[in-house]
Amino acid sequence: MKLVNVLCLLNMTHIKCRNGVYLFSNIARLTVPDELVSWDQEWLDYNPPNYTSKGVFNKPWADPDLTDLDFKPKWNEQDGPVNRVSYTSCYKIENGYPLNPIGRTGLRGRGLLGKWGPNHAADPIVTRWKRDFKNSIVVDSDTSKPILQFCAIQRRDTKEWAIPGGMVDSGEKVSETLRREFQEEALNSLEATEEEKIKLNEMIADFFKNGQKIYEGYVDDPRNTDNSWMETVAYNFHDDCGTSVGKFPLQAGDDASKVQWMDISRNLNLYASHLNFIKMVCEKYSAHW
Ligand code: BGC
Repeated sequence: MKLVNVLCLLNMTHIKCRNGVYLFSNIARLTVPDELVSWDQEWLDYNPPNYTSKGVFNKPWADPDLTDLDFKPKWNEQDGPVNRVSYTSCYKIENGYPLNPIGRTGLRGRGLLGKWGPNHAADPIVTRWKRDFKNSIVVDSDTSKPILQFCAIQRRDTKEWAIPGGMVDSGEKVSETLRREFQEEALNSLEATEEEKIKLNEMIADFFKNGQKIYEGYVDDPRNTDNSWMETVAYNFHDDCGTSVGKFPLQAGDDASKVQWMDISRNLNLYASHLNFIKMVCEKYSAHW
């Protein structure tokens, strides 16, 4: 089985996008027990609330409502500049509405998401080794394995720590999103002269040429609903010598309220499925976990 698909299996049961009150609303999701997440399990009177945030209507990045007769999306296809293809499978359409490929979430509508069906993001996992004042790599005293650090941001919406990813804009290549999001969120307010900024941009363009795909697929994101969900492509960019991006003191910008190099371990509590992606990077480098 492809490594990138393993997470889809681990995510089969919704954890972060099921039960409780939906983010930034007073709408309670219908409680969905584990055994009824799958659409294959019959639930005849399943009738969850329908909610789309007002903040989504008439936004240039969002779809129109599905009751709008002029809106004729091409499901499971590249639809003009909008990618409606899911990494998971060919998703089903029920009464004109796309169905979450992993199962029930206890809420219909789009919630806070702009697109019906898959909403595509990209996540740059930028890593370096933790080093001491002599520049030697720091090893964990329990596991005797070297400690990796990743560039972490604190999200402004949920305040959780996360990878500095973001939405793939319509028509944008994933490789561009990865670099743009990192630059906007992690390096935006880096104090530098114009000349330094030119050099920095060249160095980042170079650094971002050598990424390795860690994951592509569905994300257990708290914003997901029965009809709209997040998918991502996560790439690792590793600065082994700490002489490229790894030498920067990081500063926050854009959607991020804080940014830092964060020591990686299994005890981190991160946004959506981000800890799973980070774990895969640790396995790749036999780093402390
Ligand atoms: C975030 C990504 C995340 C994706 C799915 C996006 O809003 O910026 O980091 O992977 O949502 O949760």
